[in-house]
Amino acid sequence: MTETAATAPRVTMDEITALAKRRGFIFQSSELYGGIGGFYDYGPLGAVLKRNVKDAWWRETVQLRDDVVAFDSSIIMHPLVWKASGHVDQFHDKMIDCKICKHRFRADHLPNLDQCPDCGSKKSFTDPRSFNLMMQTHIGPMEDTASIAYLRPETAQGIFVNFKNIYQTARKKPPFGIAQIGKSFRNEITPGNFTFRQREFEQGELEYFVPDDGKDMAIFAEWVDARKKWYSDYGIKADRLRFYELPADERPHYAKAGIDVEYLFPWGWGELESIAHRGTYDLDAHMKLSGKDLRFFDEAAKQHYTPILIESSAGMDRTTLTMLIDAYEKEKSVDPNGKEMERVVLRFHPKIAPQQIAVFSLARNKPELVERARAIEADLRRKFRTQYDEGNIGQLYRRQDEIGTPFCVTFDYDSLDDQSVTVRERDSMRQERIAVDRLQSYFSEKL
Ligand code: GAP
Repeated sequence: MTETAATAPRVTMDEITALAKRRGFIFQSSELYGGIGGFYDYGPLGAVLKRNVKDAWWRETVQLRDDVVAFDSSIIMHPLVWKASGHVDQFHDKMIDCKICKHRFRADHLPNLDQCPDCGSKKSFTDPRSFNLMMQTHIGPMEDTASIAYLRPETAQGIFVNFKNIYQTARKKPPFGIAQIGKSFRNEITPGNFTFRQREFEQGELEYFVPDDGKDMAIFAEWVDARKKWYSDYGIKADRLRFYELPADERPHYAKAGIDVEYLFPWGWGELESIAHRGTYDLDAHMKLSGKDLRFFDEAAKQHYTPILIESSAGMDRTTLTMLIDAYEKEKSVDPNGKEMERVVLRFHPKIAPQQIAVFSLARNKPELVERARAIEADLRRKFRTQYDEGNIGQLYRRQDEIGTPFCVTFDYDSLDDQSVTVRERDSMRQERIAVDRLQSYFSEKL
């Protein structure tokens, strides 16, 4: 385990949930009807934030690499896919109920089974019962056992069953990877911690296939490094992140190595991603049940072999939540009139920030100012994520700090004479005058 002195974020989950709702990042799903546990909706800013997280993952994992190809499989697949993968028989959690307060728990989440942590009753639990986490539906009009199908609990299996289609059409040979981002569903017994544990969520999964030539552990280590660099490049604080090496007794029997990427959330360490050396387990399982050959034919050696699999599986919602929490700061500052105030600021990395530049006109009722400010915003919009706003400058800054916009541009009365605007930087709150015709190049450099 590599770990530096960890400092938990100085924010509570109540503060994050309230800010997420107030500013339009994340809402509880179906709030109008009292909500539905384990499901969330992303508001105007949250939808862009999550898209930026996915784009950043896609860029580094697929776009910038010539050894990884893109994929997008269906959510519902043949039920035998989940038989072969082991999900039908083994994807279970044990649940337990308190007979007094009726609260339900995952048995493995309880420190001991003597006393209910919610109501304090002793020896009040039912016997643990196994519960399969896959969500079921039916295909076609008949709701019988023959029509049962599952919403996928991970995107990976879509890649495994298409392995041959993909390597043949993409003309790739191991070592090479296949990546996809998509929705997965798990009927979690106790969803919670906001979007950390949901019943519908998105994963970014990379399945990297390597020949059995002794380099598999080195390639595993390269992917761990690549993922470390990703979190660091997009601004996650290193002292709140750890790469936990799973000992043999915490790994599945077929896995030669496993690392959980964990973040120090306000409630403690939580998993963001799992990186695993899965051997030939997945392809073998599908070959066995389907009776089809998924091995790769090595032209040079004139022989078939089953490639070894290295997997990196990251939660896109958990990473988005981490970006929000990690960026959050509450600090003392001074408002434009010199008054002391407390400001909340989200210090997003500029590539992750939902908005990059806000353009203001200082007065609402001065058409010349409004027109010029809007023209600047329209011009910057072609290249950056921007927004136009107007009104009280203190309030405007406060709002943009709270949604994490790296730069604000203000067109004021002086701008009419000197053709310059005030550019204010989010983190330092430093302000400088920049000529309007230099704004494009100024922001290209900064962002
Ligand atoms: N194919 C491997 C796999 O699915 P996993 O550890 O079960 O591995 C990978 O899941 C990632 O998916 C987790 O690290 C987490 O980020 C995300 N994830 C899993 N269950 C989740 C849930 N209920 N809500 C949100 N994200 C979840």
